[in-house]
Amino acid sequence: MEWLDWENLKKQCSICNQCGLARNRKNVVIGEGNVNAALMFIGEGPGAEEDNTGRPFVGRAGQLLTKAIEAIGLRREEVYIANIVKCRPPNNRTPTNDEAKACIHFLRNQVLLIRPKIIVCLGATAMKHIIDPQAQISKIRGEWTERKGYWIMPTFHPAALLRDESKKILFWEDFKKIRGKLKEIAGE
Ligand code: URA
Repeated sequence: MEWLDWENLKKQCSICNQCGLARNRKNVVIGEGNVNAALMFIGEGPGAEEDNTGRPFVGRAGQLLTKAIEAIGLRREEVYIANIVKCRPPNNRTPTNDEAKACIHFLRNQVLLIRPKIIVCLGATAMKHIIDPQAQISKIRGEWTERKGYWIMPTFHPAALLRDESKKILFWEDFKKIRGKLKEIAGE
């Protein structure tokens, strides 16, 4: 895949029809935030509100993510937020492997443009496509892997917290680890 600058990346995403998800989308949800962010979050794919607005993580799960980001002393605008697939899967189903494969070069391109220090995978889908397709989120959440100069950690998807409150404690522990790693990297 050819490497794209931001302008061309946005253009190519907006006209992409490499998978069936293009057919029913209202908006392509490319990602948003600080293009020089040290911290990048990767979710699964847009839901209804994201599809309507063209912005990632703006629904209920997104509000939870925003709160967690603020709880570690950052503003949402300081980080970058993207997804494995950029178009909404019907009924919010998990994107298929083919859909993820068709789309992930855009995400790789975003990572190369941003060059974050830390990448946090939100939920099993992001974890599978970025860290290890065989891994289980409940087993490896909160664990750091260093790869190609990026510190990568999976945690629960914030939507999982809405279904199961008991996950909130672990999610918060993971966010404290993110705060710690950011401080470590900054040499504080
Ligand atoms: N869930 C995701 O995985 N991504 C979004 O952008 C919104 C909800």
